[in-house]
Amino acid sequence: MNIILLGPPGAGKGTQAQRLVEAHGMRQLSTGDMLRAAVKAGTPVGLQAKAVMERGELVSDEIVSALIGEELDAMGPGTGAIFDGYPRTAAQAASLDAILGARGRTLDHVIELDVDEDALVERICGRYTCANCGKGYHDKFEQPRIPGVCDKCGSTEFKRRPDDNEETVRTRMAEYRAKTAPILPIYEERGIVSRVNGMADIDHVTAAIEKILKD
Ligand code: AP5
Ligand code: MG
Ligand code: ZN
Repeated sequence: MNIILLGPPGAGKGTQAQRLVEAHGMRQLSTGDMLRAAVKAGTPVGLQAKAVMERGELVSDEIVSALIGEELDAMGPGTGAIFDGYPRTAAQAASLDAILGARGRTLDHVIELDVDEDALVERICGRYTCANCGKGYHDKFEQPRIPGVCDKCGSTEFKRRPDDNEETVRTRMAEYRAKTAPILPIYEERGIVSRVNGMADIDHVTAAIEKILKD
């Protein structure tokens, strides 16, 4: 099974992808996470992407599509893929078709997380992750069971993203509206789009996604 999670910044793509990974052994392919890893490692891609990401603009289509191809090649052919934050432009959607086709994969579902933009700034500005295992948390909406200790790995180190400030979030939202939302009709024509209320609490969103995957 290969699925796309589509939605604006803070919609919950990463949160839900992590849950699908745990429940089904699928693999999360987040271009945002790949780019952040490249920035941290100081690779040529990272050097190119850093300033663009800090502004909240989109990194080039060629770079992100190449990253996706490499990650898919590193996976077993039987492992399902969850595309999180990719594709984000019409060019990337076309590349994804080619990338999947070349590997004998097909796209099963595009799940759109429908959210109220005003709530997203609060979600994003309260977000942090475990510095060791990457598990996501939120100051208000998803706290560790023991304060200051990661539920998953026990680490006490956490981090926040440099692009999670109000000004950059506004640019990221504008980019989503201008370039990413317009790709939905491509998938609607194929009859594979399902809409989920992303304003429900995290468990309810997971349940709604699980239902779509079963149908
Ligand atoms: P990326 O990392 O993909 O960021 P994004 O799309 O802006 O999305 P986020 O990761 O901010 O949100 P999310 O939907 O994953 O939300 P989350 O689950 O964390 O991209 C970053 C940058 O990289 C881009 O700006 C661009 O520069 C570049 N880039 C990446 N991919 C690219 C591409 N394909 N092409 C070009 N450039 C690219 O949830 C947010 C918070 O809310 C969390 O704290 C969570 O706990 C909480 N939360 C989640 N769900 C709920 C809920 N239902 N109720 C309450 N709280 C919730
Ligand atoms: Mg994310
Ligand atoms: Zn952890």
